[in-house]
Amino acid sequence: ADLPASVEALTLQSTSNVSSKFPGCFPTLNPVDIYREHISEELGKIAEIDPAKVYPRLQWTNTLDKGDLALAVPALQIKTKNPKELAQEISDKFPDSELVHKPVVSGPQLMFFFKGQPLTKTVLSRVLNEKEAYGTNGNQGLKDPSDPSKGKKKIIIEFSSPNIAKPFHAGHLRSTIIGGFLANLYTVMGWEVIKMNYLGDWGKQYGLLANGFKYFGNEEALNKDPINHLFDVYVQINKVVHKEEEPIKELKEQIKAKKEKNEDVSALEAEVAKLVDASEDEKARRYFKSMEDQDPEALALWRRFRDLSINKYKQTYARLNIDFDVYSGESQVKAESMAKAYNNMKEAGVAEDSDGAIIANFEKHGAKKLGKAVIIRKDGTPLYLTRDIGAILERDEEYHFDKMIYVVASQQDLHLAQLFKITELSGHKDLASRCQHINFGMVQGMSTRKGTVKFLDDILHDVGDKMHEVMRKNEVKYSQVENPVQTADILGITSVMVQDMTGKRINNYEFNLDAMTSFEGDTGPYLQYAHARLCSMTRKSELNVDELPSANFDLLTEKHAVDLCRLLAQWPDVLINTAKTQEPVTVLSYLFRMTHMLSSSYDVLKVIGSEPDVKMARMALYASARQVLNNGMRVLGLKPVQRM
Ligand code: ARG
Repeated sequence: ADLPASVEALTLQSTSNVSSKFPGCFPTLNPVDIYREHISEELGKIAEIDPAKVYPRLQWTNTLDKGDLALAVPALQIKTKNPKELAQEISDKFPDSELVHKPVVSGPQLMFFFKGQPLTKTVLSRVLNEKEAYGTNGNQGLKDPSDPSKGKKKIIIEFSSPNIAKPFHAGHLRSTIIGGFLANLYTVMGWEVIKMNYLGDWGKQYGLLANGFKYFGNEEALNKDPINHLFDVYVQINKVVHKEEEPIKELKEQIKAKKEKNEDVSALEAEVAKLVDASEDEKARRYFKSMEDQDPEALALWRRFRDLSINKYKQTYARLNIDFDVYSGESQVKAESMAKAYNNMKEAGVAEDSDGAIIANFEKHGAKKLGKAVIIRKDGTPLYLTRDIGAILERDEEYHFDKMIYVVASQQDLHLAQLFKITELSGHKDLASRCQHINFGMVQGMSTRKGTVKFLDDILHDVGDKMHEVMRKNEVKYSQVENPVQTADILGITSVMVQDMTGKRINNYEFNLDAMTSFEGDTGPYLQYAHARLCSMTRKSELNVDELPSANFDLLTEKHAVDLCRLLAQWPDVLINTAKTQEPVTVLSYLFRMTHMLSSSYDVLKVIGSEPDVKMARMALYASARQVLNNGMRVLGLKPVQRM
């Protein structure tokens, strides 16, 4: 389903209905806002304060037994009264309401519980009518929520960013998963999202690779599997480099020893120079120099490697439901941009000479922790950091973004802090303030069953195989799955992604093939199973899904049914909260709460065998749960399956 399109529809519908009373209140998009509005107004009357003061202080709760909304009375800052007494007084005076029960007093806290009716009707008819769009809020991304004509805010999300001819390691996998999720999240919140892949595609190693290709390369293999082939070539040529280094190292040691004894070393030095000059390392340096000097032939080969690699990456990303708007990379940063950045730095006194190199000395600018960083080497060449400094300015000029996120492993915390600090110090404080580093911890022991992984494809293949084995065990079900290999692939990918999103981003975790593919516990397969089960239920009910919105929701009186609706009502708030935490686990743990509640409901709220109107109402409930589960899974970047 097309996320952006559904958001578009909803933004248009809603902006004509923006509530003017409270900022950020969108009752037509978020059912809980109806309750917030109502409670705020009642409390305003009772406590004789401005309802707008109450509104933002109504908090969501972590568990339903704490109510649907809670208010810490001291937060109202009514100094004339004791908060506990005031809480009691508010509860006593709270009028009969169609929407909520009398607030429950718990110390200085008030807990508000929504009434079963009309909540069930409001929530279920919305979910069933809005479908994919339920929970999204296009107003969040508007430059000015009161004037949609001013357009959307723009965000660049830079993620994945692997290095050509090197393994796609766990850090890149995490960046891909988290970045894909953030792109979906900002999209459903109405932002204009630009997904950018900043490839490691420049540097001396491409000179090495080009020369290596002349010795070890093979056109056929390159076209067939560029990523693996280039990596093979890279490994082989590096072996040569290491071999060549040995005699040079030995000679250098001899020179050092002789020098200590004040002996003549000129012959040895000449020998070293000869060896160095003929070495692959030096040839690579020269080749890369010719690339830097725009030599067409040198660039043509490099460009082929790059294009073929991108093609292959695209296929792998497609398996993960991800596509990029821009393939940028270190190679794309213009020399002028780096020069401009350097001039800015000089003017601002951020750059200084040090032994012929140019460095940024953060210690002099009140940022001791950032130390010093080389900006330009002695030989005049730029570095990884230098390119990022140029790139940030280019992106600002080209895209005029409101926000830019770098999704990069926490190993590069220092690098990004230095980048942002330099940007800030060299006259671009505002630009720096629009940028954010979203970091994450490490994955330990990522390996396939055959050994250590080098490429993402290997790991996805292996996990897919494992899921295929599991599926085969249930012959009847297996025979009903239309495309079992593809389904197994999706389940495998879900396993990897859910494991990755289970903790906070910053936590490290152990890559565990058995645990992630298990149906026990809060795993990817379990989540997919919950979705597939709801699909199967719909099929078996033989009801017309288009008629479900007109079911009689008043028949859903059981606690299980009402609780499920209370949970479904939270989804728009969960998304808003996720936009604050920027953590996939915020969505994931909500979805698992729902699947747990669902599995305890099946025995109590049976569909098959119930009276026709009860059957219809319950099916509407389950269909709504399926929709919200589906919406949540898609924000996470998962492809929900119908059967498995
Ligand atoms: N290619 C880099 C690596 O693999 C990650 C790039 C991160 N982005 C950036 N703008 N520096 O380590």
